[in-house]
Amino acid sequence: MTTGFAVHGFGESPEVALDDIPVRGVLPEWLTGSLIRNGPGTFQVGDRRYRHWFDGLAMLHRFTIHGGRVSYANRFLETESYRIARDEGRIAFPEFATDPCRSMFARAMAVFDPQATDSAKVNIARVADHYLALAETPIQVEFDPETLRTVGVAGWDRSDFGRMTTVHPHLDEERHEAINLVTRYGAVSSYVFRRIDTTAPGLLQGDTFASRAVREPSYIHSFGMSERHLVIVEFPLVVNPISLLLWLRPYIENFRWKPSRGTRIHVFDRASGEHVRSVTADPFFAFHHVNAYDDEDGAVVVDLVAYDDASVIESFYLHRLSEPDVQIPPGTLRRLRVPLSGPNERLHAEVISPTGIELPSIDYARRNTSPHLRVVYGISVRGDRGFYDQLVKIDVEARTTVAWHEADCYPGEGVFVGRPERMTEDDGVLLSVVLDAARGTSFLLVLDAATFTEIARAELPHPVLMGYHGQFYDDLLGSDRPGQVLPAHGS
Ligand SMILES: [Fe+2]
Repeated sequence: MTTGFAVHGFGESPEVALDDIPVRGVLPEWLTGSLIRNGPGTFQVGDRRYRHWFDGLAMLHRFTIHGGRVSYANRFLETESYRIARDEGRIAFPEFATDPCRSMFARAMAVFDPQATDSAKVNIARVADHYLALAETPIQVEFDPETLRTVGVAGWDRSDFGRMTTVHPHLDEERHEAINLVTRYGAVSSYVFRRIDTTAPGLLQGDTFASRAVREPSYIHSFGMSERHLVIVEFPLVVNPISLLLWLRPYIENFRWKPSRGTRIHVFDRASGEHVRSVTADPFFAFHHVNAYDDEDGAVVVDLVAYDDASVIESFYLHRLSEPDVQIPPGTLRRLRVPLSGPNERLHAEVISPTGIELPSIDYARRNTSPHLRVVYGISVRGDRGFYDQLVKIDVEARTTVAWHEADCYPGEGVFVGRPERMTEDDGVLLSVVLDAARGTSFLLVLDAATFTEIARAELPHPVLMGYHGQFYDDLLGSDRPGQVLPAHGS
């Protein structure tokens, strides 16, 4: 038996540009644009292997759909991390759970000269017409969306390593703003919201407009945003900032689970940046917020994929994931109702669906911040063992779940693409890059989002390592529409 990880041996994905990959089924005529995905292109550097699914060297993938045909290209992000790995065969910078080999002297010096990794492998964002690969370190790598060539590093100075950020900025096209949450570590640590005016290209650093001091910062992967509020959900997975500055162990291994703290929710006014209220809930952990909205009763409702504790992080170490019977704790869709007035009572999250789910996605363009969000897509484990092997669709109102799965197949994040004239929320398709472990190849799966059945698939000749996040841009076709061949990397 194999798993979504072991099939490929953790090795390097080939870099290719394929102008017309085979399509089984018929793609909808309206479906035009490019899916760009980010993730690890390899876990192996020289004779060393990264230790965790969230490590690895960033690789971008682009599937361009046009006229019922599909082209594909992939390319490593040309970062310093990548160049040193390729040219010198060594891991040069600390990642989520892997550190470079260092002498005690080098470790001591790292306190004074920390270096953030630039392997921006986790997500993609388009901000003020810049296409950015995002990492949790405060480094954004700009790339050309057509060729996937790396343009340069945007954002903060990489020597300013007293910060980490989320890879899930919220984008509001109506208000022309992008908002992200940064954690600053130091003698006085703080959570800081930064806002970018997306009509002002070149100002990718943004302005600080809300902050809150914190003694032991939490590991925070995303945050909530409603029409009127921003929400930090501060899980009891926290770090003493001094241990981060000393850097004696990999980043995430400095954090400690302290459930007695509970999970703290901090609400800020989105217009003024002022702190509105903080409340405490039962302890839980989450990577991903799903949605937040302001309800009629003056509460902020926060939906996220939550776990009873943070042990899911440990289950993503590669030595665990390569075991066929790996057990990944199931995250479930949970709802917090945060009253903004009245008694400050302890909150209990409501489990909306018992279905295990991760990498949640929605019709973000139309339903983000909406109280009427009905459909949440995600990946899930069918039984109680193994890696994510099905796509699920949870109806939040009806509290029902439907699933897609196929033998030996491991789907990645589902990205919803709505039919432009849609009148119902799930009128569109769900795109997912699926690893077929039996064949040792991957394919782009196109599901009818309404019926959750397959419409088409576009088949790659090679496997794609399990990635994280991607975005679909319906106006991104570029000059490399099917029929033209892109030069392969290095040629
Ligand atoms: Fe994420």
